[in-house]
Amino acid sequence: MRVVESPPPAGRPAASNLRLQATERFAHRYGGRHAGGGRGIPALSDGGTARAQAMTEYQGLRCLVTGGAGFIGSNLTRRLIGSGAEVTVLDDLSTGNRQHLQDLLDLQKAAPLRFVEADLRSTPLLGELVAASDVVFHLAAQVGNVKSIAETEADAATNVMGTVRLLRACRDAALRRVVYSSSSATFGEAATLPIAEDHPQRPESFYALSKWTAERYAVLAHELWRVPTVCLRYFNVFGLPMEDSEYTGVISIFFRRLLAGEPLTVYGNGDALRDYVFVDDVVAANLLAGLHGAPGRVYNIGSGKGTTVVELADAMREVTGRDSATQFAPARAGEVRRSLADISRARAELGYEPRWDLRAGLRAMWARVGVMNRASAS
Ligand SMILES: NC(=O)c1ccc[n+]([C@@H]2O[C@H](COP(=O)([O-])OP(=O)(O)OC[C@H]3O[C@@H](n4cnc5c(N)ncnc54)[C@H](O)[C@@H]3O)[C@@H](O)[C@H]2O)c1
Repeated sequence: MRVVESPPPAGRPAASNLRLQATERFAHRYGGRHAGGGRGIPALSDGGTARAQAMTEYQGLRCLVTGGAGFIGSNLTRRLIGSGAEVTVLDDLSTGNRQHLQDLLDLQKAAPLRFVEADLRSTPLLGELVAASDVVFHLAAQVGNVKSIAETEADAATNVMGTVRLLRACRDAALRRVVYSSSSATFGEAATLPIAEDHPQRPESFYALSKWTAERYAVLAHELWRVPTVCLRYFNVFGLPMEDSEYTGVISIFFRRLLAGEPLTVYGNGDALRDYVFVDDVVAANLLAGLHGAPGRVYNIGSGKGTTVVELADAMREVTGRDSATQFAPARAGEVRRSLADISRARAELGYEPRWDLRAGLRAMWARVGVMNRASAS
């Protein structure tokens, strides 16, 4: 087992003082431990206000982000630090990359970020890390349907047993919220659209099954142990950093192909429907859930808008100004055909409001991907 830690930032206020201030502030606003959350708190009708409010309320809160060196986790960590939170990242770097946070780690004095390189499944530090936190964001997972079919035990070990181990550690801690990153993969093929939270869940891969099982553990951990868990079921998340892996989403693959002048491959007839949600909106949902989520509750997090693969290819050609052709290939087994989130619960109870539409998110990505590409070509 390997545990590597960055030193704590020098010159930082004592954690105990920050903890006291944050805890008092939180208790004043939301009641004590395991307060009613979204159901006890007046509904937030304006997503913009709720979002801005959430940003300020993380000032001085101590947050643990498992999987914080990954795609979504690094974006979340960055936003928490920007909001004045003290963050500890726990990540074994199996797919994550320390480079995603390196600029923050280099700013040791200014950024209250601690990096613990360790495996969630075995680290002896877990209890200590949880006990020193106000909010836990649990994103660490082995991600990918295909990978789970090849590496089933590792998938179950991290996604199920790693989550159970974390929840057990949370059992006796005075936490405000534990936000679990679940997945729309748990639904399987949708019977009706848009997909509401109570749509039947029929996982069709071991990955989806492991995420679903861990989600059930999280909900029951609230019922049986009073752990204040909130589950967020993400739909198709896109944004930077794009990872170089076979599990990279279609958007990352299309960007690479557009840059290389290669055709965009569409499987089937191109009418597969997806709900693409920009990573900034997923981060905002986490911040809101960490403050306002009702313990034991599950929320869909998507954009609420459906896009076919053919529409996606058109949008990406438009945004990049590149004209790679579309090439059609036989449909791939094991992929759901139609997915679209009903986000009305998150809107009503969390004050979640997606701010990024597909083209705006693609433009933000292209602004950086295009520049990086031009720099590496010159
Ligand atoms: N990306 C999406 O579209 C999407 C959709 C639905 C749900 N999710 C969920 O969101 C979460 C984050 O996904 P992501 O896309 O950022 O994936 P990612 O692979 O970039 O991030 C996962 C992180 O967990 C770390 N990790 C894996 N196993 C670990 C272990 N045993 N101990 C400690 N760290 C470990 C990895 O190194 C990585 O940094 C996951 O729980 C995933 O299931 C993602």
